[in-house]
Amino acid sequence: MIELKNIYKTYNLGQPNAVVALNDVSLKIEEGEFIAIIGKSGAGKSTLMHILACVEDYEKGEYLFDDQPVSKLSESKKAKLRNKSIGTVFQDYSLIETFSAGENTELPLMFTRCSKKERKQRAENALREVGISKLYDQNALKLSGGQRQRAAIARAMIIKPRIILADEPTGALDSETSKQIMQLLTRINKTGAAVVIITHEKEISDYCNRKIVISDGRIVSDTLNEK
Ligand SMILES: Nc1ncnc2c1ncn2[C@@H]1O[C@H](COP(=O)(O)OP(=O)(O)OP(=O)(O)O)[C@@H](O)[C@H]1O
Ligand SMILES: [Mg+2]
Repeated sequence: MIELKNIYKTYNLGQPNAVVALNDVSLKIEEGEFIAIIGKSGAGKSTLMHILACVEDYEKGEYLFDDQPVSKLSESKKAKLRNKSIGTVFQDYSLIETFSAGENTELPLMFTRCSKKERKQRAENALREVGISKLYDQNALKLSGGQRQRAAIARAMIIKPRIILADEPTGALDSETSKQIMQLLTRINKTGAAVVIITHEKEISDYCNRKIVISDGRIVSDTLNEK
């Protein structure tokens, strides 16, 4: 489904404060995989996630989605790819604060031909699946950390993506809530979506089938998890 070939990413390229965030990263992700990307703070995990999500550019290398180079897609085709196939949960959740949980969940469908009624119904279903069906009308600011995380996951699921990318989905949560979120992501993976979780916690990566360790912008190991 996805292949990255020798990707390099430098922030502030050519300036004195240049930071090499990714250094020759190659990676394949197949349909239905359950992958943890693990590494220390600053290792380049979020940068990698943003590139996979097609929201960040890179200066060298190639990104193939279904064997098609993403760099050759027009902006509108890229937006379509993001909107149809890639569900994203960003590290800061990226919920719109003036919107309710339900409206946040519906957001990706606003850019499709989905009717208002269907949008609402699908958002209600997604919120039910993540266990917060009663919070449809609750303002995003009034959700707890775990509830925000769930709303962000519901929003990622609503497009029925082929892959979900979740950046530190349990980063700010207590261990019981983290376990529930990981069980939820495991369930989503079992329905057929590939799930990529970014984490710095080994216990979280143990839920996944494959573990990719990144250090100083390089992949230093890529192994299957024994279960
Ligand atoms: N927009 C940016 N401009 C400049 N440097 C950046 C930018 N974003 C990230 N970096 C730098 O790139 C490197 C990788 O950052 P990244 O956010 O990918 O790390 P991370 O592994 O996700 O860390 P964390 O676990 O703390 O979230 C870091 O040195 C960071 O300071
Ligand atoms: Mg990060």
